[in-house]
Amino acid sequence: MRRLALVLGFGIFAIAPGYAQDVASGEKIFVQCKACHQIGENAKNAVGPVLNGLFGRKSGTIEGYSYSPANKNSGITWDEATFREYIKDPKAKIPGTKMVFPGLKDPKQIDDIVAFLKQFDSAGKKAGLSLPEESSRRFSSGAVDETGSAAFRRLPDRSVLQPMAFLSID
Ligand code: HEC
Repeated sequence: MRRLALVLGFGIFAIAPGYAQDVASGEKIFVQCKACHQIGENAKNAVGPVLNGLFGRKSGTIEGYSYSPANKNSGITWDEATFREYIKDPKAKIPGTKMVFPGLKDPKQIDDIVAFLKQFDSAGKKAGLSLPEESSRRFSSGAVDETGSAAFRRLPDRSVLQPMAFLSID
């Protein structure tokens, strides 16, 4: 059991740096969207609709938001491919949309905003593995293996199910 725990722990450490980085840079890019869009648990419709749970939902379906007919009737279901095309040049993908945004031209920026948006489920909760800021900074600084495994060894077995628990032990 202990051995299994260590393997899982390393798995999590291995994923964390790339994940945290994309999301962090996506959050900075989201500043541009924030002028019009909210996201997260307390998000409300503003100039643009709430962006929670974007991937997998049909365009124009956030309740209480008054969409343009162009957006509402676009027939798009937002997945990564359609969203990438859209955000590159919104007016090209949905002619007549009232979203006044020139688009993100850099593919890396699009990767990062996708990673950022993907975190939020339809209730605006961050789904999956999300790391507190403090830990992601430590991970990206490279001191991961030693601190990580040392902290992990002190854990009770049940912490495998609660990765957040060991992240806070120092
Ligand atoms: C100047 C305001 C503005 C900015 C900036 C803006 N948007 Fe929008 N966005 C809108 C509006 C308004 C709509 C509704 C469009 C319609 O009804 O035609 C919209 C619609 C959308 C939709 C479709 C949502 C749905 O429910 O179908 C997505 C996705 C979206 N925006 C993502 C983004 C992202 C990501 C950014 C930042 C990179 C961004 N927007 C920046 C105003 C904005």
